[in-house]
Amino acid sequence: MSIRSLLSLGLLATPLVSALPAADWKATSCSTSTSHSTSHSTSHSTSHSSSHSSTHTSTHTSAKTSAVVTTTTSSASNTAQTTTLLATATGPKGLNDYAKKAGKLYFGTAADVPGTNETTDKYYRAELANKHDWGQVTPANAMKWVFTEPEQGVFNYTEAEIFLADAASDGKLVRCHNLNWYNQLPNWLTQGTWTNETLTKVLENHVTNLVEYFGDRCYAWDVVNEAFSDSGTTGSLADNTTWRSDLWYNTIGPGYVAVAFKAAEKAVKAKKLKVKLYYNDYNIENAGAKSSAAQALVKSLKAQNIQIDGVGLQSHFIVGETPSRAAQSSNMQAFAALGVDVAITELDIRTTVPATAAEQQQQVVDYASSVGACADVDACVGVTAWDFDDAYSWIPSTFPGQGYGDLFFQPGGYNTPLVRKAAYDGCIQGLTS
Ligand SMILES: *[C@@H]1O[C@H](CO)[C@@H](O)[C@H](O)[C@H]1NC(C)=O
Ligand SMILES: *[C@@H]1O[C@H](CO)[C@@H](O)[C@H](O)[C@H]1NC(C)=O
Ligand SMILES: *[C@@H]1O[C@H](CO)[C@@H](O)[C@H](O)[C@H]1NC(C)=O
Ligand SMILES: *[C@@H]1O[C@H](CO)[C@@H](O)[C@H](O)[C@H]1NC(C)=O
Repeated sequence: MSIRSLLSLGLLATPLVSALPAADWKATSCSTSTSHSTSHSTSHSTSHSSSHSSTHTSTHTSAKTSAVVTTTTSSASNTAQTTTLLATATGPKGLNDYAKKAGKLYFGTAADVPGTNETTDKYYRAELANKHDWGQVTPANAMKWVFTEPEQGVFNYTEAEIFLADAASDGKLVRCHNLNWYNQLPNWLTQGTWTNETLTKVLENHVTNLVEYFGDRCYAWDVVNEAFSDSGTTGSLADNTTWRSDLWYNTIGPGYVAVAFKAAEKAVKAKKLKVKLYYNDYNIENAGAKSSAAQALVKSLKAQNIQIDGVGLQSHFIVGETPSRAAQSSNMQAFAALGVDVAITELDIRTTVPATAAEQQQQVVDYASSVGACADVDACVGVTAWDFDDAYSWIPSTFPGQGYGDLFFQPGGYNTPLVRKAAYDGCIQGLTS
């Protein structure tokens, strides 16, 4: 059920909305009229089984007090507390402005453009074009293998080019996503018969083509996505329960990750690129076996003199189960100590719908903890939301009964004005305190 129908049925608690002045976020008009009709039936469909057991209260306090954030109790219909942001006329006007002020490179978002309703929703597109909020974009689908190499050796960059053209016209950084994953693969790959040698060649060819073709239009590449299983307990790379049992692991063995990174590095060197090479995964956002495995992977690649520049912490969190700011920042520091950057790459914080007032208030705290952890760690380059509008979130279709994970929603549904949630203010709170 959509947010729209929940609202119309009166099932949604009064949403806790941003207390920021309306500012100029709606002023950007949308002039794009792409008539691209390919539909992406394959959505982001991992089954992220989160099992965070950390304490759920953000107890972070900082000496950096900020004049722009105060907390007040709201009156009238909202029973929960809300955050009031006293924005100044000349100061930062949105998430990306605040992130830059905090020393980060960007605050960004994933977007599933072209070929979806996001493409034609002019209110969604106007907010996507708001550079005060979004200084970086990640294509949610357009660069995945099923779209970029639909037939073996036949590369199709049509959708990726449309995405990149939009990003370039807005002057946004692009995190390119992704070169290797077990999901959203074309049939020729999943239904083929492969040996270690033939699949290794296929992987090298794909990585080489994409890295060389897109070049420095990508700020970063997620070279390998989600290589680790959720059932591993030791974090050791020698323990086969550490690895996700998939086409790559089962055919090539754990060395497939090095194969992908080596091919990416070779392309970077051949074309003299600056693009950063990342490993990206979920449930590696606080200490635990899976984070240990990712740290072991960084060490192993570095020991083999293979380029790895960063680790992407997906951060698909759950309201009330989000790791604390301290737990997230110390985990980031553990990666930084190995000589890599980190980034929050797919942030959303879901809950059961309708979200109660208490859950909405907790979501504000959880966004502040997550974004704040990145602000606390120099090696954290930026934060990417896994889209910003509940109307287009992957959550309800993947986790039935859950949603409300993003920073904006559309009470009127498709092609109607967006409303900022108080969670948006939580992000600013994280960046300023
Ligand atoms: C490439 O992809 C686009 C968009 O999905 C599609 O319209 C086009 O037909 C494809 N090109 C080829 C040569 O298959
Ligand atoms: C893991 O290794 C054990 C033997 O050490 C083997 O029996 C098992 O099948 C392996 N599992 C996977 C998923 O490779
Ligand atoms: C695949 O080939 C590589 C390179 O020869 C080798 O190191 C690796 O052990 C092989 N993997 C399997 C599963 O046999
Ligand atoms: C998608 O867009 C079409 C118009 O192009 C609209 O009629 C439809 O309601 C939208 N679907 C959703 C789920 O918003």
